[in-house]
Amino acid sequence: MTIKVGIIGCGSIATHRHAPEYANHPQAEIYCVYDPNPDRAKKLAERFGGQVAASWEEIVNHPEIDAISDCSTNEMHHLITTSALQAGKHVLCEKPIATTLEGARQIVEAAEQSGKVLMIDHNQRLVAAHQMARQLLQSGELGKVLTFQTSFGHKGPEYWSVNASKSTWFFKKDRSTLGVAGDLGIHKVDLLRFLLDDEVAEVSAFAGVLDKKDEQGEPIQVHDNMVCLLKLVSGAIGTASFSWTYYGDEDNSTILYGERGIMKIFANPDADIEVVKSTGERMVYKVGAIQTNDNQTSSGVIDAFLEAVQGQRAPVVTGEDGVRALLIIQAAVESAKTGKSVAILPNHG
Ligand SMILES: NC(=O)c1ccc[n+]([C@@H]2O[C@H](COP(=O)([O-])OP(=O)(O)OC[C@H]3O[C@@H](n4cnc5c(N)ncnc54)[C@H](O)[C@@H]3O)[C@@H](O)[C@H]2O)c1
Repeated sequence: MTIKVGIIGCGSIATHRHAPEYANHPQAEIYCVYDPNPDRAKKLAERFGGQVAASWEEIVNHPEIDAISDCSTNEMHHLITTSALQAGKHVLCEKPIATTLEGARQIVEAAEQSGKVLMIDHNQRLVAAHQMARQLLQSGELGKVLTFQTSFGHKGPEYWSVNASKSTWFFKKDRSTLGVAGDLGIHKVDLLRFLLDDEVAEVSAFAGVLDKKDEQGEPIQVHDNMVCLLKLVSGAIGTASFSWTYYGDEDNSTILYGERGIMKIFANPDADIEVVKSTGERMVYKVGAIQTNDNQTSSGVIDAFLEAVQGQRAPVVTGEDGVRALLIIQAAVESAKTGKSVAILPNHG
């Protein structure tokens, strides 16, 4: 059976990941695409197939469409994804799930009521090195993880967005809302939950607009850097740094320090994973590089989403996972604002 797909939002993530991965998938057909900028929609359709719809509502309510990729800007996710689920479509929603907890909850409720697949695009879980790292950790290789550091930084969304300029929506409070924390940080807190099978209990953060200017030459409206201290339910403590001002190579590294050794993921250019045991034994794993803004490889996200749509597996990232990641990032933003650490209750949200 061919799964007919609608893509809403035809910017960079749709062009570099969703559309090519659907177009390459034997069971998928891009049926309709929409973007408020019609040239972008036309360009995507010409390159990867499908018709251009006149509105996102047309795609959401289209009787032929089975599944939707919500690649719209952050402030639209709760409207588009909720409507799509209510209209009986399966949805792959970009991260962050929403800009508010209320919006995120609406999405999760709509998924529960519809019984359709909802997956949030925290694609770091599907990166081969992260999958392998989780297996190694679960095998007990390092013992209990005691402390960690994780980073995600690049030179900024004004180099990535389809509107590659200082007027990008990523810099606007009412559209991006959570700045670098909601753009890059949310990936890393989801990754920590995935790798360690643990929850964040408490967060404390510093954040600032250290360098970025908007199209008027004014400091941007959202943080361009954040550094967090995280305490997990297990008691592990660590740091997480998120930046739009790493003006060289991207940093997507995670280092885990366990009772019996250290695991470095994307921290050494010669090894995707490097394990250094307390015995001195050193293992290097080459399992494939992570996608970067300048080097797009298949993310595996569309395969995983379509497998869930076909009932072959559960969604790799659920709506609840999206809510948990949002809660942690909201707590970090609150901590940066108040100067106090913020506890996240297990049943919060
Ligand atoms: N999973 C990832 O690794 C990853 C990476 C980058 C971006 N994203 C997410 O993907 C989403 C899109 O980001 P992007 O990088 O493609 O940004 P982008 O600026 O390149 O493109 C956004 C597109 O959305 C369109 N848009 C604006 N308002 C819309 C509306 N009301 N309805 C439909 N489309 C609308 C814009 O016209 C633009 O073409 C964001 O939520 C972002 O956080 C995820």
